[in-house]
Amino acid sequence: MREFVVVGHEAPTTAEFSLDDLPGAGRLDVLCRCVTAAFRLSHDFRADVRVRLVLEEEYVVRFEGSELRHLRPDERSAGSLIRGALEARDGAVGAMEATASPGVHIGAGDLGTAVEAAAETGPVVELHADGAPIVDLEPPENVAFVLSDHRDFTDPEADLLERVADERRSLGPAPMHADDAVTVAHNYLDTGGFERY
Ligand SMILES: C[S@@+](CC[C@H](N)C(=O)[O-])C[C@H]1O[C@@H](n2cnc3c(N)ncnc32)[C@H](O)[C@@H]1O
Repeated sequence: MREFVVVGHEAPTTAEFSLDDLPGAGRLDVLCRCVTAAFRLSHDFRADVRVRLVLEEEYVVRFEGSELRHLRPDERSAGSLIRGALEARDGAVGAMEATASPGVHIGAGDLGTAVEAAAETGPVVELHADGAPIVDLEPPENVAFVLSDHRDFTDPEADLLERVADERRSLGPAPMHADDAVTVAHNYLDTGGFERY
């Protein structure tokens, strides 16, 4: 299992946004591209992946690859699944999530709860261009990567990650878009740390 936790700093927390303007919906396009990058392969799908999107420190939308249906490679498709999750948000009570569609769940939560949940199954690696080179890290089993959207992590988020993340690692010297970082992180794991091709 591989996991990606992506923080959306301006992402919508209600379903009142247009699929025709995902960038205008708090740059939801970035989160949508992260979702598709996490699951898509050419003519195939990565079922052993989990994605948690943190929406404005209020809700966490969890995508489970083993259950997921109806995710096509376009941004609107992921946007539609996120909107469906937000339509179902009132069904989430306390720590209990609501299920919006197969493999798409929503619960109240923030970066802290998302990382805490991810840490139950494996090590947590913050991805940051200023981190230590990931190539020097033996690819961990069941790792959870934590990324930010189009913005930097806020100071409180950075402090939290400094406390709870097992590693802070860079995928390379060039700052990438978050969805590209997801793809490179997959490649790092697929190749045993850029070693097996
Ligand atoms: C567009 S960046 C965030 C904006 C921020 N100004 C920046 O350049 O880091 C999106 C996210 O992708 C990840 N990322 C981007 N480039 C990376 C790199 N070279 N190594 C590791 N993670 C990277 C980080 O998690 C980052 O927060």
